[in-house]
Amino acid sequence: MDNLLSYGEIKMMRRIGKIAAKIIKTLKRFIKAGISTQDIELFFEKILKRYPGYEPAFLGYNGYPANLCVSLNDEIVHGIPKKERKIKEGDLVSVDLGIKYNGLFVDTAYTYPVGRVSPLAQRLIKVGKKALKEAIKKARIGLCIGDIGETIERIAKSNNFSVIRSFVGHGIGYNLHCPPEVPNFGKSGTGEKLLEGMVIAIEPMISAGSEEVVISSDRWTAKTKDGSLSCHFEHTVAITRRGPLVITS
Ligand code: MF3
Ligand code: CO
Ligand code: CO
Repeated sequence: MDNLLSYGEIKMMRRIGKIAAKIIKTLKRFIKAGISTQDIELFFEKILKRYPGYEPAFLGYNGYPANLCVSLNDEIVHGIPKKERKIKEGDLVSVDLGIKYNGLFVDTAYTYPVGRVSPLAQRLIKVGKKALKEAIKKARIGLCIGDIGETIERIAKSNNFSVIRSFVGHGIGYNLHCPPEVPNFGKSGTGEKLLEGMVIAIEPMISAGSEEVVISSDRWTAKTKDGSLSCHFEHTVAITRRGPLVITS
């Protein structure tokens, strides 16, 4: 097991995570009808410049061409910011961002409603937040990866939503993505055991319709095949002797 982190490393990640949390929170006021997804990209770039040594984690990752991901409505993840992509009233805007400092990564995502959104969209957001919150409670020494996935899947399904299976959460630390995979589905009591010092990104991606995914012609943007709405919430979480420590809050 080479992806266990020390107390000191987790403390360092917490410092980075607090900055990520602050930025995600600031975006709540920034995102409104009329701005473009590129405006969010530039805003993030500008804020990060205030923190010397802090870098966007996604830029160049597997050739990804931007600092962060902005995915609208039926887009699930990996939306590439674009100047001509305008945000409008009623949209669901998912922002996923990663920050790197001193070799350590944190990763967090949030889905923002723009103005008044449909009752379905409201319910989807509520369920996504609840799925993440309940899944985080399972990030405990002695429980398993399957306990996290089971929790997310159960909460989504009991609301007649589906979880996206083709993208998963992941270990994180000196890499943005490392083992173990953290699927948004599973069976409690199965999968890898959670150990002290593991740090994982838990990231429910929930669709109001089908779980089937299509990739757009830009080769990045992942959408629901049936065009239904989706949401994405993510926190980086450390497994500690004192229970789950949310790095990105
Ligand atoms: N969505 C991924 C995650 O949260 C990160 C995207 S990396 C990128 O783990 F390069 F594709 F943007
Ligand atoms: Co992410
Ligand atoms: Co992630």
